[in-house]
Amino acid sequence: MNSKKNDSQASIRNLQEEDLEKIVHKFTFPWSTSEATFVLWKNYFQEHQRHLRTVCIIEKQNEIVGYGNLLRSPEYPHFKNNNIPEINAIWIDEQSRRQNLGTMLIKHFEEMATDDGYQTIGIGVGLYQDYGPAQRLYQKLAYRFDGNGITYKCQPVIPGESYCVDDDLIIWLTKSLVPK
Ligand SMILES: CC(C)(COP(=O)(O)OP(=O)(O)OC[C@H]1O[C@@H](n2cnc3c(N)ncnc32)[C@H](O)[C@@H]1OP(=O)(O)O)[C@@H](O)C(=O)NCCC(=O)NCCS
Repeated sequence: MNSKKNDSQASIRNLQEEDLEKIVHKFTFPWSTSEATFVLWKNYFQEHQRHLRTVCIIEKQNEIVGYGNLLRSPEYPHFKNNNIPEINAIWIDEQSRRQNLGTMLIKHFEEMATDDGYQTIGIGVGLYQDYGPAQRLYQKLAYRFDGNGITYKCQPVIPGESYCVDDDLIIWLTKSLVPK
């Protein structure tokens, strides 16, 4: 099994079908239902098997404490058209934050994308306060704005129009994987 450990004894590995039940139990958030969470993760697993995405989970002492995805066919047109894989839906348990696990997961995806021959990797981040930690994290890891402004549901926003400030209002960042 493809698995890596760091100093805190956290390890990262690819999602397996046996994980789904545990994940639905643990990661059904108050804004969703266990049925919807199961459908979401079943779809993740099927896309993982088809190599459209790679889903990784991060474990500590045999407990799943976070996860993330690498999308090889992202919805955001700038990434899709420029062969830029997207790091997506990173989540670290609240009790396990600020222990470098988010950093570890992102670096894992960067290595994976490099091994797959990609020259650039991308990530999107929301604009409201809940995304503050992610904004700081991506800046720290040297991600830069892609220069195309913000999007709503992956389409460029139009100046003067109104949009809801929600999870679909996103700014996009990229990082070169080519050593200087
Ligand atoms: C964003 C998230 C993945 C970060 O995970 P994490 O494991 O806590 O991050 P790390 O420990 O690797 O943090 C690395 C750096 O990011 C920045 N950072 C992380 N959390 C921060 C916070 N709450 N406030 C300010 N900076 C923060 C810091 O620079 C930190 O370095 P430091 O601890 O040496 O100061 C986590 O907060 C999370 O799951 N949030 C909810 C989901 C989410 O927003 N996902 C991203 C969607 S785009």
